Amino acid sequence: MMDVMQPCSWHFLCIQAMHENHLDMEGVALKLFGTMKTNELNHLEIGGCDAVELAKEHGTPLYVMDETLIRENMKLFKNHFVSEKLDCRVVYASKAFLNMAICRIAKEEGLGIDAVSAGELHTSIRSGFPKENIYMHGNNKTEQELEMAVSEGVGRIVVDNLDEVEALARITEEKKLAADVLVRLNPGVTAHTHQYIQTSKHDSKFGESIYGRKIFEIINGILECPGMNLHGFHCHIGSQINDEDPFFEAVSVMADFIKVVEERIGYKARELNLGGGFGVYYSGEDSPIKLSDFMGRLVGHIEEKIERNELSVERVIIEPGRAIVGNAGITLYSVGGIKETYGGKNYIFVDGGMADNPRTALYDACYEAAIANRINESANERYAIAGKCCESGDIIIRDIELPKARKGDLIAVFTTGAYNYSMSSNYNRLARPAVVFAADGKSRVTVKRETLDDLIRNDII
Ligand SMILES: Cc1ncc(COP(=O)(O)O)c(C=O)c1O
Repeated sequence: MMDVMQPCSWHFLCIQAMHENHLDMEGVALKLFGTMKTNELNHLEIGGCDAVELAKEHGTPLYVMDETLIRENMKLFKNHFVSEKLDCRVVYASKAFLNMAICRIAKEEGLGIDAVSAGELHTSIRSGFPKENIYMHGNNKTEQELEMAVSEGVGRIVVDNLDEVEALARITEEKKLAADVLVRLNPGVTAHTHQYIQTSKHDSKFGESIYGRKIFEIINGILECPGMNLHGFHCHIGSQINDEDPFFEAVSVMADFIKVVEERIGYKARELNLGGGFGVYYSGEDSPIKLSDFMGRLVGHIEEKIERNELSVERVIIEPGRAIVGNAGITLYSVGGIKETYGGKNYIFVDGGMADNPRTALYDACYEAAIANRINESANERYAIAGKCCESGDIIIRDIELPKARKGDLIAVFTTGAYNYSMSSNYNRLARPAVVFAADGKSRVTVKRETLDDLIRNDII
């Protein structure tokens, strides 16, 4: 029998971990985050809402976000990434999960927003998000995107390359508007994460290497342009990083580079943006950094490096995405059937798949899952959880122990809050699921489920 344990007392020092509950079923531990728990009906509950009722009301597949946990994660960064000497800012990396509802939450919680396309910018602006707190990123911003960012007066445009410097010089001149910019640097720090989400190898497509000559062309180009105000530098070393050292290394390398720039051309950076990348728990393979402790150490290291190098940096920024929404999301699926193959693998077929969660196919991501309508039953069968797309790679979980599954069961896949909805597609013309936010026993739809007509809306015969 599984029994429900209270939030672990041994985690009491860690705010992040205070939001983990554990279900223990004969040695197999399942982590539940935030408001998730089991209820007296033996169902999963999230935001005070019974998952079975959510599925009945909103249909499946369904993305459900724990709004309370999103807010708590935002507060965790706001409350711990602080300094008496520096202006510390937290910017939500919206690529992890973006709709207008989360923009409203980020605004209420006092975070900025990192946008990487006209679409992300439009969503943020239309939600009423303050433009001056938007950071515009991207390694290949189109002219239209740059024009939009300049005309809208976003807080910072993070310049990636020399072509962008030239485009921005032209746009600011034409529009007679100024652009406040940072330069994205590649500090060459290797983070131990999946190669597809490393962003600071020497051959990365992002930013300009601090080791090449071109970086000074970019900096000088900006300094010489009357339409651009250079505030400082940015880096982002990768995503799903569960190790503190690469972050410290990035700070050191960036601070040393800022010193080199000062000495070589006399430019004194005032802002240092370190990007995001803080990992989360997906499965037993992950031991994420305890962020509430780490933020203090990170700020301490930043202060020390700034002091030691006698830099003029006054503002430091981080851009967490996954760590804010990852654990807060679950996806609910209905089981359409079970297939026992001649080859020995048993499949649970769910009514979604790689169209709503491409991460397993893309990076071999691991997830935990439960049968949400019988959550306390013992796990004694091995399954792969597969979707309904016409791809053998359409797998959500390659190998998981679950109670014997039945047609009609409700599967909950955990930690799908980041890079699931935002990476979803209409492959096989599957309609994208609805996104529901749950809090205090109530659920609200924040993105409607797509209809069949939505799928042909832009088609022309
Ligand atoms: C520039 C930048 N900032 C922040 C992030 C957010 O990363 P994460 O979701 O891992 O925190 C990314 C992710 O790719 C990024 O490219």
